[in-house]
Amino acid sequence: MNKKKRILTGDRPTGRLHLGHYAGSLENRIKLQDEYEQFLIIADVQALTTHFEKPEMLSRNVRELCIDYLSVGIDPDVTKIFVQSMVPQIAELTIFFSMFVMVNSLRHNPTIKTEAKQYGYKDLSYGFLGYPVSQAADILFCRADLVPVGDDQIPVIEVTRKIVRRFNSLYKPVFDEPDTLLSKCPRLVGLDGNAKMGKSLNNAVYLSDSSDIIKEKVQKALTDTGRIRLNDRGDPDNCIVNEYHRVFNKSEHENICSMCRQAAISCTACKINLAEKLNTLLEPIREKRNLYEKQIDYIDDVILCGTKQAIEEGKETLAMVREAMLMDYFGGLSNR
Ligand code: TRP
Repeated sequence: MNKKKRILTGDRPTGRLHLGHYAGSLENRIKLQDEYEQFLIIADVQALTTHFEKPEMLSRNVRELCIDYLSVGIDPDVTKIFVQSMVPQIAELTIFFSMFVMVNSLRHNPTIKTEAKQYGYKDLSYGFLGYPVSQAADILFCRADLVPVGDDQIPVIEVTRKIVRRFNSLYKPVFDEPDTLLSKCPRLVGLDGNAKMGKSLNNAVYLSDSSDIIKEKVQKALTDTGRIRLNDRGDPDNCIVNEYHRVFNKSEHENICSMCRQAAISCTACKINLAEKLNTLLEPIREKRNLYEKQIDYIDDVILCGTKQAIEEGKETLAMVREAMLMDYFGGLSNR
């Protein structure tokens, strides 16, 4: 039997997941989990690169993230969910890799530059500048073949691929270059028209939002600003609500576009329809969430079990790495 290819992807535990995550990555992960062997990293150390002053927020969100995963349909029997900081081999690999990654290449990395600007950083912490190196360790500790990410992460994954080539030529060919699997769904815009949906921008629709909150958020959403009166013809290409119909209401989308162009549907009706579609999608997720929130012991078991399996993979990889780097002194401590 062919061994399943391995996927590694994940999120920083900085808050609850929203519709942008659902369309951009979660839906895909649910589809991929049977065909591939999937690891999901809860990247708490990476979250510290920007939130080092708020450790209490991260620790609270580690469980929340796992609850979100399970509620949307990630199956913990096939997908291994684990916490980055609990896999020591990731930290070890990060240090080894950091010896041959040049600081200038990180300073010029487009993702690092964009994110540093977004956060308004004048100077960068060592950890922030180096997060592509630690992300390479996230991916390579389990020798993943495939890394599904959004397009903003392409330059970060490029660092991983470069590290693989460099490591293999410096020492021994231990790693294969992982491929990037780009999200097919274009980035979901915020309901307020802001290019990105996000917690800090206060424009996100959370998977855990109640049905009334969804209605309220959709009612406030931006539509074609050129359509002022009911009889004005609308331009669906210039309407945020329509963007959401395109993603979450595929079957009616075209029809809604043509009705909008003929002023045959009001913005209010269009919004009510969207809110209903979103609630149909989110209701079962909310129900599961309510159940999981009451089963914290089970959630902890899922995370611990996934983490143990990740550590086993990490041990195997580190044995190969130490051997390649001639650092397998005395046959390793574990044999003593
Ligand atoms: N950088 C990713 C994000 O901000 C999260 C992440 C951490 C990740 N480690 C990873 C993604 C490894 C893919 C592979 O969303």
